[in-house]
Amino acid sequence: MENTKENVHFHVETDDDNIVWLHFDKADAGTNVLNVEVFEQLDEHLQQIATESPRGLVILSDKANGFIAGADISAFTEVKNSDQALAFLRRGQDVFNHLEALPFPTVALIHGFCLGGGTELSLACRYRVTRDDPGTRLGLPEVKLGIHPGWGGSARMVPLLGGLKAMDLILSGRSIDGRTGKRMGLVDMVVPERHLRAAARKLVLESPAPHQPGWLDRLSNNALIRPLLARVFSRQVAKRAARKHYPSPYAMIDIWRKHATDRQGMLDAEAQSLAQLITGATAQHLVRVFFLQEQLKSLGKDKSYQPKYVHVIGAGTMGGDIAAWCAFRGFHVSLQDQSPERIAPALKRAHGLFARKLKRPIKINEAMDRLMPDHRGIGVERADIVIEAIFEDAEVKRSLYKDIEPRMKPGALLATNTSSIPLEELYSALSRPERLVGLHFFNPVAMMQLVEVVNGESTSAEAAAHAMTFTRQIDRLPLPVTSTPGFLVNRILMPYLMEAVLLEAEGVPAAVIDKAATDFGMPMGPVQLADTVGLDICLHVARILAGHFNATVPERLDKLVSDGHLGRKSGRGFYEYKKGKAVKPKASAGNWNLEEITNRLIFRLLNESVCCVREHVVESDDLLDAGMIFGTGFAPFRGGPMHHIDAVGAAVIKQQLQGLMSLRGERFTPDNGWNTLMQSSGGSTA
Ligand code: NAI
Repeated sequence: MENTKENVHFHVETDDDNIVWLHFDKADAGTNVLNVEVFEQLDEHLQQIATESPRGLVILSDKANGFIAGADISAFTEVKNSDQALAFLRRGQDVFNHLEALPFPTVALIHGFCLGGGTELSLACRYRVTRDDPGTRLGLPEVKLGIHPGWGGSARMVPLLGGLKAMDLILSGRSIDGRTGKRMGLVDMVVPERHLRAAARKLVLESPAPHQPGWLDRLSNNALIRPLLARVFSRQVAKRAARKHYPSPYAMIDIWRKHATDRQGMLDAEAQSLAQLITGATAQHLVRVFFLQEQLKSLGKDKSYQPKYVHVIGAGTMGGDIAAWCAFRGFHVSLQDQSPERIAPALKRAHGLFARKLKRPIKINEAMDRLMPDHRGIGVERADIVIEAIFEDAEVKRSLYKDIEPRMKPGALLATNTSSIPLEELYSALSRPERLVGLHFFNPVAMMQLVEVVNGESTSAEAAAHAMTFTRQIDRLPLPVTSTPGFLVNRILMPYLMEAVLLEAEGVPAAVIDKAATDFGMPMGPVQLADTVGLDICLHVARILAGHFNATVPERLDKLVSDGHLGRKSGRGFYEYKKGKAVKPKASAGNWNLEEITNRLIFRLLNESVCCVREHVVESDDLLDAGMIFGTGFAPFRGGPMHHIDAVGAAVIKQQLQGLMSLRGERFTPDNGWNTLMQSSGGSTA
């Protein structure tokens, strides 16, 4: 291999104790990832180091953000077939086997990200030392991409931690910090940054016996216990992911059940199974979703914008939670409402959030100190960003803006969390309308990653860019959308929800409707979703959208709301709720045409998506897919609505829409955008 200066990814340092320090610093990259070239260079170094018989080897990263983030995911999309994938996996396994077989102590010195292939590499070392901070994360998140470890990650983790702990990490894909890793036996030492090198040196020089799992952990790998545990794992996974849509965790369970104590068998099975999965539709779509997420992240990267103070007005469901989230992410936040009593419940919820997320009392107190109740609205004056989340009423919002704008700093941003009012209806209250932008959060704020960044006709490019950067600073994903009714997500979701209401009114049991949607891959059925959001909120948004788009709101929804059945929050909506959980009457799906139900729901959603693309509510099909996946959980393994249309064929869906239109009514009339789609995919426009 040619080692030009550009593609040298490692460099070696040997210290006075004859310990070799192998620095990984991937050329031309901000993050260390593994690819063919990296493996080849790593192997060359390992062979060379083996001939030098050092006291030990420490592998470390020169990147500030972490050790190794995993495999180079862009390479996944280039894999042509499973044979090619298998060869690549085998090569990686060989290199890690060489590392593991070195006859002297080997240490992975870990800070920041150590995920996927990074954790697999560290497992091939005799010891792991990590930095002691919450930002150091170890894990095998492969299942989130529709695959599982393939470079020996499971083959090595299973004997080290025992089946129960190892499979929990692999099947959930969750990452853990060094302290948790130490408790589980994955990490040997956890130390502050300044002691990292000393800790690695100590492990090499003292060469203690590597971690051994306790008897209970070992027992979970016992051949008699495994079939039993495998069934438990499968049941747990089934709650989150259906086998037909997400085969990888089930494949992993099978591999473990058959080979847990047979290292070579496990390595072979890992590679063979992964080579199949990686070329399958689910993995390819999930990899696409990963890149969509990266695309959204890249929209908010203006490092020069550094706001500090946030002032939130409206301490209700949304404003209270937005304020808490901003304080959790490190901002100084003042929270205003009409009286202290209205702010108090938001502070209580904030404390709950901080306790769940931060755990340590000192951290919880620090976060609480960053969140100031401020019913007089004094914080407006120092705020870099004012977020308005008061009642959904244009007149009330305008009158508030008139009051606060003169007190805002000249460069401060004004963001509204309105879910339906176009910014054009709000500009008139402002002397500087260019600073107004929409920051449309979704409920619950702490769970929903997406924030629609609404760009009205007077919003300046700078305000929109700052809003996107701020969205990233609070670790949410910004989606730029135009200031049209319902923006993107609610607009596309509403026809789908209304179709569910119509189906229910026709007599289809709510549970059957929900099953049709979850079988398609939605995270929650539309009826339950409507109940969860609140039927009053659904009705409000549906009325606004119906006014703009000449649609009708089903009477059934009106009736439920006027009867006080508002969904989960009132104890009854379409379902009854006991202790916050829906009581679903048993309904046999067998009597219903599930395919037609699914088509009615999903095709209305797809039709509205096509309409939004035609009207340029978002800039691209990709952004639409990203918005629906991160804003609603739209079946990620299908890659988003537009990607799904592409996979099934625009002409096929358009034809089915026409069939539904003649059978069920004009609401299924295909949007004109289908013709453009069919032309671009070479179909007929008939
Ligand atoms: P909410 O009714 O729970 O809270 C509104 C709060 O604003 C109340 O506490 C009220 O006292 C306060 N308020 C009203 N006028 C005020 C004023 N002039 N000064 C100070 N405080 C004032 O409402 P929610 O649900 O939090 O909605 C707020 C905004 O967020 C609305 O624009 C809504 O459309 C939007 N939104 C709501 C979502 C939801 O799921 N609830 C989702 C996304 C956006």
